[in-house]
Amino acid sequence: MSQTVSQYNRLTKIIHWLSALAVFSLFALGYWMVELSYYSEWYKVAPHWHKSVGFMLCLLTLFRVVWKLTTATPEIEGQPWEKTVAKIAHNLLYLMLFAIFISGYMISTADGRGIEIFNLFTLPGLGSLIENQEDIAGDIHFYLTYSLVGLALLHALAALKHHFINKDNTLNKMI
Ligand code: HEM
Repeated sequence: MSQTVSQYNRLTKIIHWLSALAVFSLFALGYWMVELSYYSEWYKVAPHWHKSVGFMLCLLTLFRVVWKLTTATPEIEGQPWEKTVAKIAHNLLYLMLFAIFISGYMISTADGRGIEIFNLFTLPGLGSLIENQEDIAGDIHFYLTYSLVGLALLHALAALKHHFINKDNTLNKMI
């Protein structure tokens, strides 16, 4: 949208912070659950929550992209090179999120089974689309989640640098 605004709108802010919370929580949950033993009471419950919340985050991110494309976004502040880097980083964050959702889906559905979402309904599985799907999708999911969290931390540091060093409006317009 070409219209100029000085703040992100309320819904954008809510979705941004909810997504940030979900990404860091899903990462922590995933990190912990892969080490669980078969005899742990969390062995089945933790992946169930990981997949259900991940699916909700996927829906939220799809909506977020549509919302972003149809509402006005404030200008990024800083030097021209900073604006370019920020735009690349923001687009990469979106791209990585979708690649993580797709790879997660491909891990869970490689054996042909669907994914139970909060015991409410089953997301249908497409089965194995490529050879060794579970392993390949598993590697992609693993490396991308670490990269996403790394990039999100850099992104947060950049926001704090704008706030405390440049003393501009970058962080305020997302709060
Ligand atoms: C997993 C965590 C996070 C993700 C995936 C994420 C993603 C994003 C994305 C995609 C944008 C661009 C918004 C748009 O589409 O216009 C954005 C903007 C922003 N984010 Fe994050 N973010 C995360 C965490 C954080 C954290 C922890 C902070 C602060 C400490 C932060 C501060 C900001 C700020 C200030 C903006 C506005 C930047 C500007 O307009 O110049 N984000 N974030």
